[in-house]
Amino acid sequence: MRGINPASTLLLLTFIWNLAVFIFSKAVKPKLKKKINSGITALIILLSNLCLVFALVYFSTVIGVSHYMLESRRIPAEFDGFKILQISDFHTGTFHGGTKALIQKSVKEKPDIIAITGDLIDEDRINTQPVKELAAALVKVAPVYFVSGNHDVWYNGFEDFEKMLENLGVQLLDNRQFLLQRGGAGIMLFGIRDPNSWNDLMAEAYLKEKLGAFKPGEGFNILLYHRANMFELIKGKGFQLVLSGHMHGGQVQLPFIGGLVSPQQKQRWFPDFTDGRWNAEGTTMIVSRGLGNNAPVPRMFNPPELVAVTLKSTEEH
Ligand SMILES: [Fe+2]
Repeated sequence: MRGINPASTLLLLTFIWNLAVFIFSKAVKPKLKKKINSGITALIILLSNLCLVFALVYFSTVIGVSHYMLESRRIPAEFDGFKILQISDFHTGTFHGGTKALIQKSVKEKPDIIAITGDLIDEDRINTQPVKELAAALVKVAPVYFVSGNHDVWYNGFEDFEKMLENLGVQLLDNRQFLLQRGGAGIMLFGIRDPNSWNDLMAEAYLKEKLGAFKPGEGFNILLYHRANMFELIKGKGFQLVLSGHMHGGQVQLPFIGGLVSPQQKQRWFPDFTDGRWNAEGTTMIVSRGLGNNAPVPRMFNPPELVAVTLKSTEEH
């Protein structure tokens, strides 16, 4: 299930409005007994389109927050209402408003934890300052957990970069697990490092190995993993919630159709898992469209997205 994207919805509205105007001018207007002033009609069409284009640009660039609720009997009552803010594909702040806007939105959400699901930095745009600013501010909002994305691990200075994050107070979760505790109850947070591979098969082999090393228990288990396109391998492996990114919403978001292009070779065009919520075999994966960009294809009708997931306990007593 894909989330609501205001930009692609507005694109659809613009198309429907102009189609209606066209049909009216060709089929209805000539049959009307009363003459309609062409100058006024043209002005209305121009102004309405200007408003739609303005709204389209605005909603394509401003960070949106997609809210999800996840219910489970496995979620302890102590974690009822627990809010996870997911930040994905920051790409050194390459989006409207940059780091400052993202911090403001994050503070407003009042999360219990912040999960960063990769691509904070770009291997070819090495400026760690925006990440430094972001991490330093986020750790004051809530505990921050980080797993790497492909562009993080492709960066030559990745090890130093990780140390920098750790020194700022970010908890590194690459191939690690961490027990989140609240009032004596706990839920387990797992993280898998990006496989550092262009090759889909190598990435799959790495993921299978790392998944095999984890033993999710009977409680509620969350996995942070960058590449949403790997859902087929992750579903049914004991994780009730998976938070992912990587797909950038398919770069161009088309109404009804969804994303246009994948960063992976497999299913390059009109890929699955570009955004939204995906359920299979007891696993729910929530995919962020991310914030920034590194791909040669620009993001279109695809606003920067923050994801907020609230846990709801249906535990029986
Ligand atoms: Fe990315």
